[in-house]
Amino acid sequence: MNQHKWTTPEIRSKAAEILSRMSLEEKAGQMTQYDWGFNPINPDTGLSQRDVIIDQIAQGKVGSVFNLPGAEQANSLQKLILDKTANGIPLLIGRDVIHGYRTIFPIPLAQSSAWNPELAGKTAAASSREAQTDGVAWVFAPMIDVTRDPRWGRIAESIGEDPYLASVYAKAWVEGAQTDDGPGLATASCPKHFAAYGLAEAGRDYNTVDISDRMLREVILPPFREAVESGALSIMASFNEINGTPACANRYLLTTILREEWGFEGIVVSDYNAVQELITHGVAADEEEACLLSINAGLDMDMSSGIYIRYLPKLVREGKVDERLVDEAVLRIIAVKLKLGLFEQPFVTAIASEYATESSLPPEHLSLARQSARESIVLLRNEKETLPLSRSTASIAVIGPLAKSLQDPLGCWSFDGRPDDVVSLLEGIRQSVGSNTAIHYTQGCDVESDSDAGLDEALETAHQADVVVLALGETYLMSGEARCRTSLDLPGGQRKLAEAVAALGKPVVAVLITGRPLAIPWLQDCTDSIVQAWHLGVQSGHAIAEVLFGDYNPSGRLTATFPLNVGQIPIYYYRKNTGRPPGGVYTSYYIDSSTDPLYPFGYGLSYTSFRYGAIRYEKQRISKDEAFELSIEITNTGTREGEEVVQCYIRDEVASVTQPLKKLAAFRKIKLAPGETTTVSFTISESSLAILDADMNLTVEPGHFTIWIGANSSAGESVRLTVEA
Ligand code: GLC
Repeated sequence: MNQHKWTTPEIRSKAAEILSRMSLEEKAGQMTQYDWGFNPINPDTGLSQRDVIIDQIAQGKVGSVFNLPGAEQANSLQKLILDKTANGIPLLIGRDVIHGYRTIFPIPLAQSSAWNPELAGKTAAASSREAQTDGVAWVFAPMIDVTRDPRWGRIAESIGEDPYLASVYAKAWVEGAQTDDGPGLATASCPKHFAAYGLAEAGRDYNTVDISDRMLREVILPPFREAVESGALSIMASFNEINGTPACANRYLLTTILREEWGFEGIVVSDYNAVQELITHGVAADEEEACLLSINAGLDMDMSSGIYIRYLPKLVREGKVDERLVDEAVLRIIAVKLKLGLFEQPFVTAIASEYATESSLPPEHLSLARQSARESIVLLRNEKETLPLSRSTASIAVIGPLAKSLQDPLGCWSFDGRPDDVVSLLEGIRQSVGSNTAIHYTQGCDVESDSDAGLDEALETAHQADVVVLALGETYLMSGEARCRTSLDLPGGQRKLAEAVAALGKPVVAVLITGRPLAIPWLQDCTDSIVQAWHLGVQSGHAIAEVLFGDYNPSGRLTATFPLNVGQIPIYYYRKNTGRPPGGVYTSYYIDSSTDPLYPFGYGLSYTSFRYGAIRYEKQRISKDEAFELSIEITNTGTREGEEVVQCYIRDEVASVTQPLKKLAAFRKIKLAPGETTTVSFTISESSLAILDADMNLTVEPGHFTIWIGANSSAGESVRLTVEA
């Protein structure tokens, strides 16, 4: 059943009955959301922003607030609604619960590297349930902006570069986050940012987006379509313009596509102050025009600018806005509140102590965090079988500015997490070895300065050790919103440290604790092994130590291409052939760099090895509406149990419009014991073969298709399938 048709006749009639009792001001109030956390004091009135919000709530002029400090404040505001307002419509309380609440899980880019959407759904559900203890019924997640630009700080929050994988995760995340344990124990998700925010020019946040309708529909929209089909109760419109019209004023996006094409029934909320920013964009002369553009485009709720409550009643009374548009928005907002059971139970009922106390996190959430962290880790390099480390190693040096950090592993959007809850890399290693292994630590350098003051001590520490673990990366403030970089190198003095330590000739393992892919080919020349560990959340240190010592065989695979250098960006596997694919002179190549990435999409190593058999299939020719079954035997040819992400890619060789050389069509994560063989089957259906033809119609065009099954986007054998007319 299409979950996106969630409004029942009962919800609709109840919402209509409530609407019928509302004044125009109360309607505009439901469409107004405030940030409780932004609390300036008005110099003229001496009133704080919170005083204003409380007064507005008491007048029934607020529909939602976010960034409340906790359950007590939430209950107090809900009581104010019941005591003071005519219609007692409960507040919808929101929060950025992006990858955890008090239990912080790995950043979404890390979780996507686990290729385990079911696991991501579980972390989303755990996050929603923890947030409910503070009155949060609306999480501003998942972030499903496809991006191909690691300069963009919000790649950390994304599911990476592939529309199909992002769609699979979007479904799992929406279904996980939207818990429904009963009235007052239900949560709305908010897939964001609609749309194309991840394609901002130059990888610079909030920047211009100018793309074809084809790019929009082939690459950007699929995850959002999946989120809507999965029953998402809201969607957040993005800051950016798309082809000249900012999302909040973009009727094509918010009404034509979302409502008319997809039948979306949930709330469309703006991003922070984005209605006001229509003036800065230069499409609205003033707040009144910004209000007019937004409501006419189909925006239901104004986040934090206050423009809707200030101008909608006036514009309706002047006949400039059709009150029908206001009514439709209010009906959607009330329908979501009814769906969440807020009218039955506006007060916090989730018992915080069941989830987290001052000193501890729920054990089942901790084990979930550890599982998610270990599966997110990607082994990028492992020469001379340096990893896994032996526990009989007498002396291990742990050197680097990220080794002891408790804040950085939390990553971006982790303000409800606590550094004290984090297991650092150093602590994880210390707890993972016995008394016969000496662990020597030194910081070695800074992340935010080139100081080499710690270099001598680092070399002395490394000199004493049998093996060196370098803890390198980015701080938690170097990725996330408004955290874009023009360099993808290791910041500060880390390169100097790594190269100096490498010169000692000891086995060196680099652990990268970052929020994004880095372009650091030089690191291969000074390390034996490289572990991409991302910002992994509270269980970071334990998960990395499990990989370092082989308690867990790394299974992560990249979901964002690692470039050789910034000059290659945008670089992604999903590329097209062009008329002159990279080769020699007069082809699409660089005179100063390879066009190949450092590490491709889908890439990751294991401590074991896997053999892929021949691809088997029944029929090489199928009709347009037939499914194509293919299978392959995979054997673990190594000595350790391991997980493999078996990836299936498709190319439509000749079509009415150019097609990517490869598109991810399916994947399966399998676990095999040493020597074990299994058969993995994929069913390639019409949805995998269909393209948007020259007229933008979704269709399967007859012809030849190449299908690969392999370990990443650059590997694997292929077969040729013919679809008959
Ligand atoms: C921010 C972000 C958005 C977030 C919202 C509320 O600017 O763009 O992702 O949900 O404002 O904090």
